[in-house]
Parts: sequence; C-alpha cells; structure tokens
Amino acid sequence: MPDDYNPATVADVRRLRDTLEQQGKKLVFTNGCFDLLHAGHVRYLEQARALGDAMVVALNSDQSVRQLKGPDRPLNPEHDRAEVMSALRAVDAVVVFDDERATALIEAIRPHVYAKGGDYTVESLNREERAALESAGTQICILPLVPGRSTTKTINKMQAGDSSAPGSGLLRLAVLGSGAGSNLRAIIAAIQSNTLRAEVAITLSDQADSGFREIARTAGLPALFVDGGDNPRRLSDAAQKEIFEHLERARIDVVVLAGFMRILKEPVISAYAGRIVNVHPSLLPKFKGANAPQLAIDEGELESGCTVHLVTAEIDGGRILGQAKVPVKLGDTAETLHARIKVEEHKLLPHVLNEWRERGLSVRGAVAS
Ligand code: GAR
Repeated sequence: MPDDYNPATVADVRRLRDTLEQQGKKLVFTNGCFDLLHAGHVRYLEQARALGDAMVVALNSDQSVRQLKGPDRPLNPEHDRAEVMSALRAVDAVVVFDDERATALIEAIRPHVYAKGGDYTVESLNREERAALESAGTQICILPLVPGRSTTKTINKMQAGDSSAPGSGLLRLAVLGSGAGSNLRAIIAAIQSNTLRAEVAITLSDQADSGFREIARTAGLPALFVDGGDNPRRLSDAAQKEIFEHLERARIDVVVLAGFMRILKEPVISAYAGRIVNVHPSLLPKFKGANAPQLAIDEGELESGCTVHLVTAEIDGGRILGQAKVPVKLGDTAETLHARIKVEEHKLLPHVLNEWRERGLSVRGAVAS
C-alpha cells in the first residue's frame, strides 16, 4: 500500500474544534511521545476519548522527543508514530509538534477537554501549559496510568542481556546542575582526556537558561530541563518523578549532583541509593546547606575546601568519598573563596568518580553504599 498518510495541521484541528463547538460537542486533546505503543496507551486513549466527541493527539516531534527523553529516543520516527496513532479507533486526528511543551498548540487549538495520564494533579502540571489551558477555558482531566505497562519497561526488557547495551562498558553518568556548570565542564574534560572512563548519558537542569545547560549543549549532550516548581530549593512531586523517569530511561549508573540546588527525594533517593554523589563547597560535616563559603568566612575559618559525598535523605549528610582543602585568605569574599574551592572541585569530582569505576563498581546496582 502506498504511504499516503499525512498528519493533520493545526488549522485542520482548529476547524474540527470549531465545527464540534457549533454542534454543542467537545474536542478532547492529549499529548505525548507514544514511541512504542502498548496496551496501557490504548486503554488511556480510549478513556480520554470518552471525555468528549472527538480527540486529537499532539505527538512530540523526533527532535522534541530527543530533548525530553535523551539521545536514544524515539525508536520510531514521527511520521510512523503519527500513522500508527491515527489508526487507533479512539483517535480522530494527530498533529506533530516541535516544542518540549504543548503550550502553543493548546493556545492555537483551544480544546474543550485536556486529558493527561499519570499521577499528576492539576497543581503539578507544567505552569505554562496549565495557564494556557485555563485561559482557553479547557477542562483538565487527569486519568490514571495503567499499572505495569510502560515504554521504558518494554525497552529495558528488550535490552536486558544485550552486552553491547550502554552501561556494560563505561560508567553511565547523569549530571544534574542548576548553575554555571563548571563542574560539568570539568567532567567532560576529564572524559575527553581519558582520566575519567565514563560517559555523560544525560544532563538535567531545573534552570532553563543556565550556563550548565549551555555547556551541555555545546558539548553535544542531551540537555534535559525539568520544571522544579515554585520553591527554588525543593522539587515538586511531579518533578521528582520526572527526574526518576529520565534516569531510568537513560539506564544511569551514577547520578552526579554538580551544583544542583534543589533537594532530591523519592523515588530517586531509594532507587539510586549508594549511586548518587554530590559536590559541596565546604569541608563537611562543617557548613551544610546553602552559602557554605560565606559561612566559612563568617566563622573565621583558616581553611575550607570541598567534599564529594554520597547523597542520602539527610541533606549533605551521606558518606564522604573525598575532600580537598584550600586556605581562607585575608580579605576573601564568598566569591573569591568559592572560586578557589571550585578549582579543587574540578579535580576532586572526576577523580572520585574514576576511583569508583576502577574499584569495579560500574555495574548497575552494584555500587556499594
Ligand atoms: C559548586 O561549587 C558546588 O559545590 C555547589 O555549587 C557550585 C556549582 O558550580 N554546590 C552546592 O552548593 C550544593 N549544596 P558549577 O555550576 O560551576 O559547577
């Protein structure tokens, strides 16, 4: 059969919406990557379609799937995904979109109902998407996920036992950061010079415009963004879950917090116990938490430094893996002291990671705590 399938345009869908409205009917909108369709997707889509009279699925383009899920995805190109999706009985139209979020599409289509799968709440939806939905007067419906069915699980099953799969050789790192990204740069440089036998599988930031992300992009690494929510030190439950899903998808061995300024909690803390390291600008256990260089100056310390340690539920309290000292000099400000500390961090962090590897701890799940 010839390939004569084409996804709908935004204008097509807007017309469909307007026609339905004239008839007193409702258009349902949902969005996602739908890379490897499984029964969980089909059941979710059937439930979503039942919320109205027709349904449009907004499908992330290949480029936006890469942004969201990392370089190994999608498995199926957007045209194929759209064609398969449009063959489902619950689906009336498919549009492909290029952004990480569906905000612009929601504004253009103004659907009557928005369906979202998973353990989101209306509060934990992405802020811009939620604002666009509210201004379009769209009803938001959160539908439960079908337990036991997920694309990640399917992919992991397919890759189990594949000795050429990522993770079997180099230590697969996820580097998380919020700031300038100098520690990420040091990790990349150590990998390039072969002093750290590892690969950065993903980078992830809670700051869309950070230097950290820029460094990741320049190095050609996946620069994922997770909206952490309003509190700059905490992560919303949805963000905690999103981060966990990114780590799982990328089959990460070790999570590196390189200036990540929000507190990681469940499910990541338990799932990666003994495999999350943090770099902190003080000689722990002194000066836990924020503003450590300033606190060292305020306390009249003669020396300070940095610590690489395991991350547990207790903030800056996990087992210390390495430390390096620097002098606190007369006339130091928090900035000058922090800059001196960072020089040491850039050596210590790659060194500790490589030692870890050399002690044979690169096998997934086998890193001692
Ligand atoms: C680093 O100095 C790191 O120790 C600190 O943030 C800085 C990030 O710098 N982390 C913390 O304070 C965590 N409590 P960078 O973005 O240039 O790598």
